[in-house]
Amino acid sequence: MKHRHPMFARYYARASLALERGVAAHRAALLNGLSGRVIEVGAGNGLNFRHYPDAVTEVVAVEPEPHLRSIAETSAGQGTVPVTIVDGLADHLPAADGSCDAAIACLVLCTVPDQDIALAEIRRVLRPGGELRFFEHVRAATSTRRVLQRTLDATIWPWFGGGCHCGRDTRTAIERAGFVIGRIERLTTADTRIPFPSTPQILGTAIRP
Ligand SMILES: C[S@@+](CC[C@H](N)C(=O)[O-])C[C@H]1O[C@@H](n2cnc3c(N)ncnc32)[C@H](O)[C@@H]1O
Repeated sequence: MKHRHPMFARYYARASLALERGVAAHRAALLNGLSGRVIEVGAGNGLNFRHYPDAVTEVVAVEPEPHLRSIAETSAGQGTVPVTIVDGLADHLPAADGSCDAAIACLVLCTVPDQDIALAEIRRVLRPGGELRFFEHVRAATSTRRVLQRTLDATIWPWFGGGCHCGRDTRTAIERAGFVIGRIERLTTADTRIPFPSTPQILGTAIRP
């Protein structure tokens, strides 16, 4: 079945640009120091592309939503690192086993239908010692906010956000998939300007053993 979220895609294409005031620096930190072949899962409109360091030889950018994918095609042509845009889903990545040096999950593990399946796929395509870099909004720290996030996730939020869930415990899912967390930083609206319910965020690295 085709992955189509036309209303969300049009909204995100605009809103993400406005959010760049707070987010762009964290995209740069997410990708800093990478090299070799990288797979980016759910690349959206391609806002990460300009932040890839020159040591990256190829980016395979997987994006299932047609409107966002077409914007990503334009973004790909504007960067210095070669980017190939591919239609695909996190649960069936278009890459061979162990063929990638790094994988990027940026504001996407909130949306994949099943985090365990997506993370197992990411693990499959990474070489041993390869890195998962993540920047994800996650479950809140306080019980009041968690209840609000759970209520939204059970009602309007996935509909409004193209399948997004605001209350996921993504760090635990990354560890459950067998990754070893390296650096991890917890960010809030004060750092990213991303408002509740999509705050806090985690930014970090995890190694595929
Ligand atoms: C909030 S946007 C983030 C886009 C981009 N990563 C960014 O940082 O701006 C979520 C993205 O995940 C994509 N997506 C949704 N479900 C997906 C899936 N099952 N597999 C891969 N990507 C998916 C959406 O089409 C959308 O582009």
